[in-house]
Amino acid sequence: MERTLSIIKPDAVAKNIIGQIYSRFEEAGFKIVASKMIHLDNYLAGGFYAVHKNRPFYGELIEFMTSGPVMVQVLEGENVVVRHREIMGTTNPKEADSGTIRADFAKSLDENAVHGSDSLENAAIEIEYFFGKDGVFPRTR
Ligand code: TYD
Repeated sequence: MERTLSIIKPDAVAKNIIGQIYSRFEEAGFKIVASKMIHLDNYLAGGFYAVHKNRPFYGELIEFMTSGPVMVQVLEGENVVVRHREIMGTTNPKEADSGTIRADFAKSLDENAVHGSDSLENAAIEIEYFFGKDGVFPRTR
């Protein structure tokens, strides 16, 4: 069973659609095994998106991600990393398949409603970043 990290971004939290996005996860058969709402500061958002530090959109990305609270959760399921990316849709919502979260709820490339880990390796790093080593139940050790 795999786990992945999901973030409902400030635009979607502000639109009051946490429940609608959670329903998509449940309809896909994913279990929500940890969740919390947090308001990221520059340090936390910068650490999370450190890989994009030299990209031209980095400043706006950090400004957006710190503009309001986000909902962070760990999803569990078979092949959940890839399947979660599929139901999210492409990074640019204008190119996303209809019926995906980004096609239905996001307005632009820079404010695109959701994040999902892009590999099993990054999922483990991102889950630990937000929940720590022992932060997700059921504990496996
Ligand atoms: P990226 O990791 O490429 O996409 P994804 O979120 O689908 O894994 O980019 C991270 C975020 O950075 C993306 O969700 C939105 C933002 N972004 C921009 O604002 N402009 C861009 O040109 C790109 C590529 C990303």
